[in-house]
Amino acid sequence: MKNKVNIAPMMDWTDRHCRYFMRLLHPSAFLYTEMITAAAIHHGDAGRLLRYNDIEHPVALQVGGSEPQWMASAARKADEIGYDEININVGCPSDRVQSGQFGACLMARPETVAECFKAMQAETAKPVTVKTRIGIDDKDSDEFLQAFVEQLADAGCRKFIVHARIAMLDGLSPKENRTVPPLNYKRVYWLKSVFPELEIVINGGLTDILQVEDALQHVDGVMIGRRAYQQPYFLAELHHHFNPDWPLPERRDVVLAMLPYVASVLADGEPLHRITRHLLGLFAGQPGARAWRRAISEHSHRPGAGTDVLENALNAIPIAA
Ligand SMILES: Cc1cc2nc3c(=O)[nH]c(=O)nc-3n(C[C@H](O)[C@H](O)[C@H](O)COP(=O)(O)O)c2cc1C
Repeated sequence: MKNKVNIAPMMDWTDRHCRYFMRLLHPSAFLYTEMITAAAIHHGDAGRLLRYNDIEHPVALQVGGSEPQWMASAARKADEIGYDEININVGCPSDRVQSGQFGACLMARPETVAECFKAMQAETAKPVTVKTRIGIDDKDSDEFLQAFVEQLADAGCRKFIVHARIAMLDGLSPKENRTVPPLNYKRVYWLKSVFPELEIVINGGLTDILQVEDALQHVDGVMIGRRAYQQPYFLAELHHHFNPDWPLPERRDVVLAMLPYVASVLADGEPLHRITRHLLGLFAGQPGARAWRRAISEHSHRPGAGTDVLENALNAIPIAA
């Protein structure tokens, strides 16, 4: 099931270290960066912001913005650097994002998103895609979602990732906006039936293999967020389930496979905790999980902390885990 699994863009979580780790756990999932604003790419150090490791392919850059010229320039840079897809964020509900006029509030301005899409797609042969919600505020209907997708499809967009809940732009925090509005998978399945030619990826609340199997009966792909970050071994189980010839790696072997990467990042001057924070959930539900988390949390921040922190943390875990 190549690329039917996508791993969600998650701010402060899916940085390049996290993505490296996730690639070891799932050889083919499409990885997404955290959202990076077009303005930051335009004004900032794009080389640093857009850095990734070759092992991450396929990897998409998620961009936030609504200014076609800046979005186009972000797409051009992403293309030059070698990203496999450029994704427009039309799902993030935070206040900061609304005042910059992008994210979920753009669902109400499909023509602006279409303009951005066209300007971006003109800069690259890689697919430009859209991640959106099923609605916003009182615009909570099949027709509203259909009209939004139609405008983007007319502009040429072929892949939509749909977080199956509306965003409430007033009154809910971004975190609440990921739990309070109810999930409505049916609307996403319906969308696929209306646009069978489009690639529709469903997102939101997918936490086990049976759910994923069920969703794949209706749509082209799934996108997994919190479960992939908080219990990353789920990714390996998922890949193994659909590709039984691929042997499930031992958790400790995944850690050992990280060590050369960790050493190279440390040699670049980055502190250990920037990587190890993403590994805390690896042993979730296993004997020794707490000792693993404690050993990493207590020692990763120390000045000069090196790969031995991970090796010692492994020693805290019973060998069967
Ligand atoms: C910590 C965190 C940060 C997030 N940052 C982004 C982001 O930068 N861009 C985006 O489109 N969605 C972002 N999201 C939303 C996720 O991509 C996803 O749509 C959401 O978590 C629902 O999927 P899940 O139930 O599988 O977690 C974020 C979610 C979390 C938990």
